[in-house]
Amino acid sequence: MNFKKLAKMAVIIIASVALLSACGSSTRGSSASKSTSPSLKKGDLIGISMPTKADQRWNVDGANLVKDLKKAGFKTKIEYANNSPSQQSNDINNLVSAGAKAIIVAAVDGTAVGPAVEQAKSQGDIVIAYDRLIMNTKAVDYYVTFDLERTGILEANTIINKLDLKGNGGKTKPLNIALFAGSDDDNNAPYFFKGAWDLLKPYFESGQLVDPSGLVTKDTTDADWKKISVHAWDQNQAQKQMDAFMTKLSQKPLAAVLSPYDAISLGVMKSIKNARPDMSPSTPFSASNPDNKSAWPVITGQDGMDIGITNIKFGAQAQTVFKNVALLANKTTSILTQIADDKKPKSTDAPMSNGKKDVPTWLLKSDELVKNPTGDQKGLHYEVEVGFITEKQYQKDIAAPIIK
Ligand code: GAL
Repeated sequence: MNFKKLAKMAVIIIASVALLSACGSSTRGSSASKSTSPSLKKGDLIGISMPTKADQRWNVDGANLVKDLKKAGFKTKIEYANNSPSQQSNDINNLVSAGAKAIIVAAVDGTAVGPAVEQAKSQGDIVIAYDRLIMNTKAVDYYVTFDLERTGILEANTIINKLDLKGNGGKTKPLNIALFAGSDDDNNAPYFFKGAWDLLKPYFESGQLVDPSGLVTKDTTDADWKKISVHAWDQNQAQKQMDAFMTKLSQKPLAAVLSPYDAISLGVMKSIKNARPDMSPSTPFSASNPDNKSAWPVITGQDGMDIGITNIKFGAQAQTVFKNVALLANKTTSILTQIADDKKPKSTDAPMSNGKKDVPTWLLKSDELVKNPTGDQKGLHYEVEVGFITEKQYQKDIAAPIIK
């Protein structure tokens, strides 16, 4: 073959390759949202790993996910880890062995679960961090949760308003407050605290608020949240920590308790009743009479648990931050459906860093439930309206107080 023929063939080959790749790119270009890992199909098994059955919300989350995923044409298998990180790792391994092609994980311990999801990822699984971010690993594809700081913001604003801190509250004599943060192994907890502390700190600086236990001072920063964390969000643990606070409070009045979760709030209330039986929800704290030693403090919460509803109805708790978890299950299902349809899900919020990866993130909006709503707040019956609890359960919740 002479040089001319060779050159001609080369031109033909180059032109054909260019044509082929142009066709290829036009196929890709016509659906810019095509996924790079179309490993999931309708009919595939989705593994769901939830932290515990002991907390009301995770039962509702689990049931919603199973219902939505089945409706969307997937098969499901769900495991509850009894709040044990090692059991959760086993659960995830078992779900993958059972053939799950995607894993939805609400982590017990966001860091400890890393190796199990890495193992799932190595088998080609899609990994979705559900409500709680999975930390320090690249093996997380997506994160769906509620706006985390908003929880703390709503709680702090309730305290600021009820204690009249923007007015004269605490200006002649500091008001006593106890502060709690969530579990030390849950990446959500520092965000909840930050939302609240950024708003409450100025009142520590001005001297209007004081924590008699000394755990929180005007020099406390967002990063110090573990000093007041409640491991595993545990009610009994919260009660113990509140007992220590009540010893320091002694016979002084108590204006407020920042609690990030309804079960922690209940532990706090039980402790108050034991240490100071004179305090009763029938005499709520009033900014116009801040020296009343028997006044019941303003106590916040989260999750709209049945106990939260009861305590709000009977005045023992001021509010709860309610997450309509049906929306979270919908969002998770829609992400997996899009992947199965060979589309790339587009997250709506800034990616959140887990230390190893900026994870595509969806932040949903929570609601604040109170007894007598104003403005954006909602009443307690809202939970029935969105299907979180039944009317029957609601009637049970509002039947009798837990704390008198
Ligand atoms: C958090 C979650 C809260 C609450 C808490 C205790 O991670 O965001 O809504 O459920 O755990 O279960």
